[in-house]
Amino acid sequence: MAIHRLLVFTILFWSHCSVRALFTVHVVKSNYIAEYGNEVRMECQFQVEDVNKMKDITVYWEHIGVDKKKSEVAKLFNGSEDYSGQHEDFKGRVKMLVDELPKGHTVIVISNILPRDSGQYRCIVASQGADYKTMDLDVKAPYNKIYTHVTNILTASGQRMKEISCRSVGFPNAEVTWLNERENLSAVVNTTFTRTADLLFNVTSAIRISSVVNKTFTCRFLNVAFQDTTSLTFTIPDDSISTDTRSYSAIIIFAICILMLLILLFVITYCKKTYWNQNAAEPLQANTEKAVSDDSHNGRWKRYVLFCNRQKTVNNEDTSFI
Ligand SMILES: *[C@@H]1O[C@H](CO)[C@@H](O)[C@H](O)[C@H]1NC(C)=O
Ligand SMILES: *[C@@H]1O[C@H](CO)[C@@H](O)[C@H](O)[C@H]1NC(C)=O
Ligand SMILES: *[C@@H]1O[C@H](CO)[C@@H](O)[C@H](O)[C@H]1NC(C)=O
Ligand SMILES: *[C@@H]1O[C@H](CO)[C@@H](O)[C@H](O)[C@H]1NC(C)=O
Ligand SMILES: *[C@@H]1O[C@H](CO)[C@@H](O)[C@H](O)[C@H]1NC(C)=O
Repeated sequence: MAIHRLLVFTILFWSHCSVRALFTVHVVKSNYIAEYGNEVRMECQFQVEDVNKMKDITVYWEHIGVDKKKSEVAKLFNGSEDYSGQHEDFKGRVKMLVDELPKGHTVIVISNILPRDSGQYRCIVASQGADYKTMDLDVKAPYNKIYTHVTNILTASGQRMKEISCRSVGFPNAEVTWLNERENLSAVVNTTFTRTADLLFNVTSAIRISSVVNKTFTCRFLNVAFQDTTSLTFTIPDDSISTDTRSYSAIIIFAICILMLLILLFVITYCKKTYWNQNAAEPLQANTEKAVSDDSHNGRWKRYVLFCNRQKTVNNEDTSFI
């Protein structure tokens, strides 16, 4: 920060010196927009009266964060680059194009742009006079990739619902709106966000619906600061119907089982009665034949009776049980 104070002193000194006050610094652009991960080239221009005196030039670039915190970005002191005082946020990401200096251009290139790089940048040039200018940098990360997710949920009140969500990462924060052909979904949207390690916004927007006519949805991410919109239109899988079909067939299977059980119970009871009506000494074979002949008009019934008698053969040892 000693160099900073020295520069401020120099600027004040030169600006009080009427002749040298002619030395001015200009900005090429007052507002820059850089995309996350890309690089940005910022530039200030100044007069060069005598190229031979350029070796004494001092240039200082500082960043003034959104929180007004100042940090050193790059420095050219007394004609040579000096990164000793550079803030760690900018370590290894800043290049100063010193070849441009004789033309009266001070250029810095910041690579791998991060959200925290946004804010103001100030170039201070002290050569045959001193002056400074300030410019803005806005960092943008478009909400390009949108991921969707559909889950079946059971609400606290016990209602079956579908939760449909869209998620995307960008910067700055986004507003999410939902569209469906018929329904107005604005009342059921819940949008939340978390921050990634790079301070990007990880925005998740979810809607809960119990039924829809049209299963085609659009979620739209509006990057408010840049008025940039990205959207995704998708159709949710038709599994609500298949779930219903599945539970419906389960009910049918269950009903069939109960019915079979009832028939079996009836047959067993019937067989037991027939069995006790027979002479206990009579051979089982005869019993079978009799039962079959009684119901010979019904093939299926015959099979049940045969089955019933076979069961009896197995349990013959302990007939009292039956
Ligand atoms: C700057 O460099 C010149 C020579 O180029 C030297 O005379 C002078 O002392 C240096 N100033 C500082 C503050 O290092
Ligand atoms: C659902 O809505 C979209 C437009 O939002 C339309 O193109 C599509 O034909 C609709 N589908 C049905 C089954 O109504
Ligand atoms: C949807 O409903 C919200 C209130 O829940 C209302 O403010 C908005 O104007 C409605 N939009 C449309 C297109 O009807
Ligand atoms: C929105 O979602 C968050 C996290 O999923 C939850 O904590 C919050 O209660 C929800 N808000 C509403 C109004 O449903
Ligand atoms: C964003 O959040 C989701 C969970 O809500 C997580 O699975 C995902 O990895 C996050 N993305 C990033 C880039 O941090």
